[in-house]
Amino acid sequence: SKKLLVDVDCGVDDAQAIMLALAAPNVKLLGITCVHGNTTVENVCKNTLRVLQACNKLEIPVFKGAAKPVLGISINAGHFHGLDGLGDAPDPNAPGLDLVQKEGAVSAMIRIANENPGQVSLVATAPLTNLALAVKMDPSLPSKLRGLYIMGGNTESRGNTTVCGEFNFTADPEAAYIVLNEYRCPTYLACWEFTCYSKLSWEFCDAWLAQDTDKARFMARIFRHSMEASKSERFEKELVGGSGLVSCDSYAMAAAIDDSFITESDQQPVSVELTGTHTRGMMVVDTVGFLKKAHKAFIIKKVDMKMFEQMMMAALK
Ligand code: BDR
Ligand code: CA
Repeated sequence: SKKLLVDVDCGVDDAQAIMLALAAPNVKLLGITCVHGNTTVENVCKNTLRVLQACNKLEIPVFKGAAKPVLGISINAGHFHGLDGLGDAPDPNAPGLDLVQKEGAVSAMIRIANENPGQVSLVATAPLTNLALAVKMDPSLPSKLRGLYIMGGNTESRGNTTVCGEFNFTADPEAAYIVLNEYRCPTYLACWEFTCYSKLSWEFCDAWLAQDTDKARFMARIFRHSMEASKSERFEKELVGGSGLVSCDSYAMAAAIDDSFITESDQQPVSVELTGTHTRGMMVVDTVGFLKKAHKAFIIKKVDMKMFEQMMMAALK
């Protein structure tokens, strides 16, 4: 079976991605590391535990990581995911933070990769602070990974956080830069525009949430806030490519779960703009080769949408 380690800023689509992994038949989820992003890292830990509780999987270890980006101030995405990151639909029986591991996220990441050399796929669906700190602590970490799957960056300079910047990269541009330049393992990118062009229909979404299970009811509750936001005029321009359900983080996860999920990708050197007034945090694709980078990431272009629908459905079964 496939061994996965997931780094999240548990907003609603991170929750969906985690549930995808928990439902996948051939996957062993070794742990979930938490980082600031959609909300505070404390909320991210709480949200992650709530997702695990909803899936009866509280035995999976949760680790707390960076509270702030490498440089600058934290941003969040409360306007979209809800202030608590999970739709502001609190749960009176939510597990307490005492269930979070004593070991920190960065050491856990390094330890787990070293205990399973060549076997772990690292899925990052959040600002890349933990991954950047981990590679500085242990530069050999990337060589221990089977692969790295990131939701983040953008390919058409269409931002969702700044004019040109996607949230995960813009929330910690230095970390994104470090990761894209120092993780020389097979790297797969589910970028913002790609996820927007690969939306699921609202009809699918209705059928998805209408499943008669506790998991579907949990999802319907936490999803209400961002679902309404997605349908509102405010997000119409941002969510390029027409209306529908965009579960950004789930594409990176699905790619890690099943090798045949990606049907078309473009292998290119990539980096991140760090200094522009309007472009800080924007991903740059070096199609000509100016950067003389040896390592090229796979930018996901097309995926098996039937397989995606099946995985999403199974996640709430
Ligand atoms: C990314 O930003 C977050 O709000 C989502 O969870 C996703 O990881 C999309 O830009
Ligand atoms: Ca996320």
